[in-house]
Amino acid sequence: MTTKILIIGACGQIGTELTTKLRSIYGNDNVIASDIRKLNSDIVNNGIFEVVNALDYNQIEHLIEKYQITDVYLMAALLSATAEKNPAFAWDLNMNSLFHVLNLAKAGKIKKIFWPSSIAVFGPTTPRNNTPQYTIMEPSTVYGISKQTGERWCEYYHNQYGVDVRSIRYPGLISWTTEPGGGTTDYAVDIYHKALENGTFECFLSEDTKLPMMYMDDAIRATVEIMQANADDVKIRSSYNLSGISFTPAEIANEIKKHIPDFTISYKPDFRQKIADSWPASIDDSSARKDWGWRHEFEMDSMTKVMLENLRK
Ligand code: SER
Repeated sequence: MTTKILIIGACGQIGTELTTKLRSIYGNDNVIASDIRKLNSDIVNNGIFEVVNALDYNQIEHLIEKYQITDVYLMAALLSATAEKNPAFAWDLNMNSLFHVLNLAKAGKIKKIFWPSSIAVFGPTTPRNNTPQYTIMEPSTVYGISKQTGERWCEYYHNQYGVDVRSIRYPGLISWTTEPGGGTTDYAVDIYHKALENGTFECFLSEDTKLPMMYMDDAIRATVEIMQANADDVKIRSSYNLSGISFTPAEIANEIKKHIPDFTISYKPDFRQKIADSWPASIDDSSARKDWGWRHEFEMDSMTKVMLENLRK
C-alpha cells in the first residue's frame, strides 16, 4: 500500500522542513501539505497544498478521504510563550486537533500518526540534568500541560484501540529556513540573524540558562526514522526523550564570536526566563537510541557553521 501523507501545520518552523523532506522521500504526489493559511510560498507552490483548520474534524476527514491518506503528521500547535498569552485557545488547539487525528485513526481511516511532544512536559520538580525518560512531570506552562496530557492520550489510544501513534519530545529546534513562532527557545535562532544583521543581540534569557537544543536536520531525521521504524521497535507510545546538544546563551554567543569576533550579547530576561527555568538542562535519550537507533549528528560548532553560512547567502 502506498504511503500517502497529510501534514497539518506544514508552513510552520518544523512543518516547512518536514514537508520538503517527506516530498523528497515519498514523492510530491504522495505528500499533501496543509495549513490554516497559504504562508510559505515554497510549500504552497512546490506540491499539493490545502487550506485546513486543525480544529475542523470534517475538513481533515474530507482531505483524508479525498487523497486516501495513510499517515498524518500533526504539526499545528501554539508554542510555550504564545500559549501563556492565550491559554484557552492554546488548550483548545493543542488538544482538540490531537483528538481529531486520534479519533480518525481509531475509526480506521488512517494508519499512522506522528505527533510532536516537547521538553515542556517537564517542570520545576523534574531532575534538571540528564532528565530520564520516566521521571517526575509537573509542567507549569499551558503548553507543557497540553503536551503532557496529549502524551497520556496517545498512549491510551495505542493501548485501548491499537492506534499506531509515534511521538518525540523535541528540544529547542534551530534552523535557518523558517523562523520559529512563539517558543522559549526561539532566542537560539534569532541570535544568528541578529549577529549577522547588527553584530549584537539582546537575549530574553539570562546568560547561564542551559536548555536542550537540536539542529533541525537532526530533528527531521529523527521524525522520519521513528515513523519508518518497525512498529514493534517503537516501544514507548507516550513520547520519546530526544537529545542533541545543550548550551547556554553565553556558550552559543562564544561560538558565534569564533566567526564574528566583534559580536556582542546583552541579557534582559523577561517572562520566558521562568518558563526556561522550569525545563531540563539536558536530556537522557537512551531509550530512543536503544529502541529505534537514534543518533544525533550536529554539535554546537557544526550547527553554528551551517547556520551562519546559509544565513549569509
Ligand atoms: N521550542 C519549544 C518552545 O520553546 C519547546 O518545545 O516552546
